[in-house]
Amino acid sequence: MALNRNTNRSFCLFVITMFMFGIRMGQSQLSSYYYSNTCPRALSTIRNAVMNAVAKEHRMGGSLLRLHFHDCFVNGCDGSVLLDDTSSFTGEKTAAPNKNSLRGFEVIDDIKSQVESICPGVVSCADILAVVARDSVVALGGPSWTVGLGRKDSTNASFSAANTQLPSPILNLTDLVTFFSNKGFTTKELVALSGSHTTGKARCLMFRPRIHNETNIDSAFATSLKSSCTTSTTDDENLASLDATTPVLFDNGYFKNLVNNKGLLHSDQQLFSGGSTDSQVTNYVNNPSTFFQDFANAMVKMGNMSPLTGSSGEIRGNCRKIN
Ligand code: HEM
Ligand SMILES: *[C@@H]1O[C@H](CO)[C@@H](O)[C@H](O)[C@H]1NC(C)=O
Ligand SMILES: *[C@@H]1O[C@H](CO)[C@@H](O)[C@H](O)[C@H]1NC(C)=O
Ligand SMILES: *[C@@H]1O[C@H](CO)[C@@H](O)[C@H](O)[C@H]1NC(C)=O
Repeated sequence: MALNRNTNRSFCLFVITMFMFGIRMGQSQLSSYYYSNTCPRALSTIRNAVMNAVAKEHRMGGSLLRLHFHDCFVNGCDGSVLLDDTSSFTGEKTAAPNKNSLRGFEVIDDIKSQVESICPGVVSCADILAVVARDSVVALGGPSWTVGLGRKDSTNASFSAANTQLPSPILNLTDLVTFFSNKGFTTKELVALSGSHTTGKARCLMFRPRIHNETNIDSAFATSLKSSCTTSTTDDENLASLDATTPVLFDNGYFKNLVNNKGLLHSDQQLFSGGSTDSQVTNYVNNPSTFFQDFANAMVKMGNMSPLTGSSGEIRGNCRKIN
């Protein structure tokens, strides 16, 4: 009897200690089971919609992944990137890194309305972006990870933070490291996350100086790009694949390109240009599973960036506007 009581007390202490430890560790309040009772079909609904969208257009996988990145880096993963401008409000969509560049909003609208129809007012737009990012990577053959859920949607957005806190393709390695470290990411995570550029496309505007003026670029690669990206501004919007070799596969092709001086953006090639990150790039070329593991871990970390939880924020009914 006494023994039993003691054991119970120890167990209680153990539970309390672990609970406090969790809080002390700043453990995320997100849970992968968040919608298990309130919307059990949410995850399969999202997955099916992403599979269909990516099958219809492979590039969409990259576009959807990027939405989550641009959401999280600007005041946390709060769905702020999805808010449309109004006459009295300027959101993030028209900020320089996003304007004429972010895409996939209609896919998110479609997913949101499907989820609303099965469980109205339950699943946040910020959570949808996080799940969609994971499902997009999986749809393109990349790694999977467990997505923590329970984010609320913001009732605001920041045009200026979107302009200043998202990295630009003209940054050098030092500045890329600074941008990511400002958001709590290591240099190693910067390199892993940049592997996202194994899929999707960029506009001539973003890589013109690199292909016309830089010397650490494979000359045949540069030449092949110049025909549709001349120095004329009429070519500004012409697209090229970020990973020309395997553009619709989420693999380590991006890193293989870098060691061959075939990075499309200046910022891409910075990760393999004689600096401290060269060895990690080479490691990812030789060990694709290490890349997948590091990428998945870094995506979980990105998804945990300052979520609104509990009574902060709201569940938007329409991802484009506050309730
Ligand atoms: C390391 C710093 C980064 C820079 C400087 C950067 C910059 C860019 C630029 C300039 C584009 C092309 C945009 C356009 O031409 O309109 C692009 C596309 C893309 N970025 Fe990044 N990016 C970075 C990191 C990331 C990260 C961390 C992710 C995801 C986790 C990501 C995912 C993508 C994807 C998938 C595309 C293609 C989108 C599409 O085809 O619609 N990027 N990025
Ligand atoms: C947006 O709202 C949240 C709470 O709803 C607040 O914590 C945050 O500071 C606000 N951000 C901006 C950019 O106004
Ligand atoms: C990187 O770029 C910044 C700003 O453009 C510049 O001040 C710095 O000297 C550059 N660093 C290196 C190592 O080139
Ligand atoms: C290449 O560099 C020169 C000299 O800095 C500059 O005038 C020119 O505009 C650059 N060309 C491109 C395509 O960026």
